[in-house]
Amino acid sequence: MEDKGEESMKVLITGGAGYVGTALIPQLLANNHEVTVYDNLMFGGDAIIPFFRSPKFSFINGDIRDKEKIKDAAKDADIIIHLAAIVGFPACRKEPDLAKAVNVDGTQNLIDVTSNEQLIIYGSTGSNYGAVEEICTEETPLNPLSLYGQTKTLAEKMLLENRKTIAWRFATAFGVSARLRLDLLINDFTHKAIKEGYLVVYEKHFMRTFIHVHDMGRVFLFGITNQDNMINNVYNVGNENMNYSKENVCNMIKEKTEAYIHYADIAEDADKRNYVVSYDKITALGYETTITVEEGIDELVRALKAVQFRTPYTNI
Ligand SMILES: NC(=O)c1ccc[n+]([C@@H]2O[C@H](COP(=O)([O-])OP(=O)(O)OC[C@H]3O[C@@H](n4cnc5c(N)ncnc54)[C@H](O)[C@@H]3O)[C@@H](O)[C@H]2O)c1
Repeated sequence: MEDKGEESMKVLITGGAGYVGTALIPQLLANNHEVTVYDNLMFGGDAIIPFFRSPKFSFINGDIRDKEKIKDAAKDADIIIHLAAIVGFPACRKEPDLAKAVNVDGTQNLIDVTSNEQLIIYGSTGSNYGAVEEICTEETPLNPLSLYGQTKTLAEKMLLENRKTIAWRFATAFGVSARLRLDLLINDFTHKAIKEGYLVVYEKHFMRTFIHVHDMGRVFLFGITNQDNMINNVYNVGNENMNYSKENVCNMIKEKTEAYIHYADIAEDADKRNYVVSYDKITALGYETTITVEEGIDELVRALKAVQFRTPYTNI
């Protein structure tokens, strides 16, 4: 494989101030790349402050729906990592028009203002598969069930058809990053186990597949280095050994927090994510994840015990 690891690239990250972006930025900077984040700071900008320490880091406060602004931001980039989105089915269900405008029209803007001289690496999702009986490979037909999955699937297709693209269909992320998300399954369960001492869990036999957010960051570097072999392809990104049922995950959390777990069919997942995913395609190229679910729960337990997260929606 041709090694592009040594070469410094100009990398633009849309949505780079988010959970994944803030785990990725330090890895790109450590590999000598120039990083520009383009983000409208929906969740604030606290998480990116430390990166200004590096002269190779810059920030543009912009919206992916603003075509002129993204055009200007993208014009000098060698690589565009496209993360800007309304993320997760609950957020998309709450604001469906915004979700379509950002996830689909925003991606169309990016296609319109870039060229095939540039590489786009897209943060796609396993939610594209929907409910699948057999083991999901990249060839498994996509059947997204929520608006989130539908917008992500459409954007992935648009990019692969129109631009020099590598798309990652990520497992569900877990672990700490500077812009922490507590709505992700493992993060949410661990947080509740610590703060409330109990968990109520539905669809306990549903199989899910997980990846630490740091390993999500690592795969972008892997894609940059190995781009010649990977362009115009989609890859499941995760680890075969991290396909777990929710009950498996709860048992791990119980062991580390002593929380009481109650299983009850009180709700259901809009994405019907109940699948086992094959990671053979990317593993064959040499990518391996490095952080296990147990290790991620350990770090979450330490962080969540140390830091009090306030929510504005409670008087307590
Ligand atoms: N975290 C996961 O488990 C996971 C799994 C699969 C795929 N992904 C994908 O990875 C990407 C990043 O996810 P994340 O977990 O970091 O989410 P996140 O919500 O933490 O980050 C999204 C970022 O996009 C920005 N953004 C939103 N709308 C924007 C707009 N109109 N213009 C510019 N910026 C905008 C937000 O301010 C935020 O910083 C998303 O595309 C998501 O679909 C995440």
